[in-house]
Amino acid sequence: MKKRIAVLASGRGSNFQAVIDAIAAGTIPAACEALITDNPGAYAIERAGKAGIPVRVIDYRSFSSREAYERSLLAAMQEVDADLYVLAGYMRILGTDLVRSFSGKMVNIHPALLPSFTGLHAQRQAILHGVKVAGCTVHFVDENLDCGPIILQYCVPVLDGDDEDTLADRILEREHECYPEAIRLFCEDRLDVIGRRVRIRS
Ligand code: GRF
Repeated sequence: MKKRIAVLASGRGSNFQAVIDAIAAGTIPAACEALITDNPGAYAIERAGKAGIPVRVIDYRSFSSREAYERSLLAAMQEVDADLYVLAGYMRILGTDLVRSFSGKMVNIHPALLPSFTGLHAQRQAILHGVKVAGCTVHFVDENLDCGPIILQYCVPVLDGDDEDTLADRILEREHECYPEAIRLFCEDRLDVIGRRVRIRS
């Protein structure tokens, strides 16, 4: 049976688009039921509009406290009642209670080979550190930042002439392959989480 997924994005939403396209192509056996965003100016909203996906804007700035914002976000997520919540460039750190409510049902993509270079500007961190291989990681979300069990990692070379932007572009191309693939595996019920390790059933 088709899974129901919801995407959370704050910005341009190119990974969201890759997921929309993979669903439309029949690669991911799912329906995207909602885009949830904290940013009323997110380009992801236009992408959702074109694909006919309902949008929920939960504007962080319109809340008096972080707790009030999180309550509203939690309610919106529960209302959608998705099988999988996909963080795609969602720029707010989610509170522990919210993350626990969706344990095993929320995934994130990070533009680095975790556990290296967590947090913001991962590609810049990779350049500054001088690594020769970089990439992206799709992982389940747990209470710690960029830390949950790893589902897939794709790598790219770091070239001598690279700067943060050229490396980010090369990684992003792979993100657009890695994320739909990881979501497909989830939607096909092929992921077993054993401690920190995720086994992919064939
Ligand atoms: C991507 O690099 C993703 O890995 C990171 O945020 C960026 C989002 O890009 N978490 P986009 O909005 O999907 O284009």
